Amino acid sequence: MKKDEKHFFLRDHWTYDPREPRAVRENVTTGFDTRALHAGFHPLRSRNDFPSFVPPIVQSITFPYETFDKIPCPVYGRTRTPTNTVLEERLAALEGGEACVTSGSGSQSLFNLIFTMADPGDNVVTSLNIFGEGYKQASSIFPRKCNIEFRFVKDPGDPGSWADEIDGKTRLVWIETPSNPCLFVTDIKAVCQAAHAKGVPVMVDNTTATAALQRPMELGADIVLLSISKFIAGNATVIGGALIGPEPLVEDIRWNTNEFLGSIIQPMEAWMTLQYIETLSMRMAKHSSNALILANYLQGHPKVEKVNYPGLKDHPQHDLASQQMNGQHGGLMSFVVEGGMEGAARVMNSFETIVHAVTFGTSRSICMHPPTITHEHMTPQERAIAGIDDGLIRFSVGLEDPGDLIGDLAQALDKI
Ligand SMILES: Cc1ncc(COP(=O)(O)O)c(C=O)c1O
Repeated sequence: MKKDEKHFFLRDHWTYDPREPRAVRENVTTGFDTRALHAGFHPLRSRNDFPSFVPPIVQSITFPYETFDKIPCPVYGRTRTPTNTVLEERLAALEGGEACVTSGSGSQSLFNLIFTMADPGDNVVTSLNIFGEGYKQASSIFPRKCNIEFRFVKDPGDPGSWADEIDGKTRLVWIETPSNPCLFVTDIKAVCQAAHAKGVPVMVDNTTATAALQRPMELGADIVLLSISKFIAGNATVIGGALIGPEPLVEDIRWNTNEFLGSIIQPMEAWMTLQYIETLSMRMAKHSSNALILANYLQGHPKVEKVNYPGLKDHPQHDLASQQMNGQHGGLMSFVVEGGMEGAARVMNSFETIVHAVTFGTSRSICMHPPTITHEHMTPQERAIAGIDDGLIRFSVGLEDPGDLIGDLAQALDKI
């Protein structure tokens, strides 16, 4: 290697420039479902590489050098594999972004993004409406280990409140909408406008809605974060994460962080995810219609104090949710039962069909108790602000017959 030549493995760091055109996918001519089936691999066009109808699983983590100084691409499975490349292209095409880099989990993707974009002394603006492991990164890991500050906006429903927290050291605005576990809906377009006016890019965590219902980049977002482990894979058989965004940022993350600290999703998991994505929009439609039936049922139940579901007409951001989520509202909800923690424990111990387990977005209905399992690190005041009551049950509505789920809820609520 000549003295001034840059090493293949290191890439320039990406910096956001609001004057540059937004890095979104150009000339998209096919519909969402066609992209879910074809993006990244086509049996005819890919025939010279792989004569196969189905994208192949290339279960190899290293790739041969033809000659001493000709670096193969892919070179090593921490950064790229052929199967993973198909998945990354498919996820970028579905979200409408330029490029995608996967990782071993959604939490790792979040870590990689912040670790790549922010330096000690910088800050990130977000709200308390975020998933538990994200909150732990924001409240303890990054501030303590990296001196990166996280600012939780006071009124996430007001774009001005987001703008108020931004200063010259803000590297990123991070929105999760609808949020886990209380389904708070943030106005993506308005917050993007507020952040961009101050020269700061916006990342939207699209895990609970998925691109089948909500495409943040079409609303102004610069980066999308996904936990593949939830609705994208859809049945708790894969753990993985993805970041979609401008190609220089994606390659910055891949080569300057993933290469040294973690790994992209593994070939088998990438291949399984590709199969599951083929039915994503159909599954999301059924999750959404089932969830609406159950939310209406729970809302009328005397032992239920509150239901958080953006599909309900009296959800505070129902209209906004309907606009940004293409008229559907997803499969995740939460509800507060009478009797606080004891009431929640009775109900959850009594379920016969609904399974008590960590995760959501599965084809089988699943429930979980956020105050003790995912959001236990928040202070009681923070939990109160985020709406995480002791009697809160997170409920991920599956694809079962809704009548059977109503039966299970009814007999379990009777036990309070
Ligand atoms: C909204 C959201 N984003 C990201 C993640 C992280 O995903 P993973 O479990 O793949 O680390 C989660 C996990 O609960 C989540 O709820």
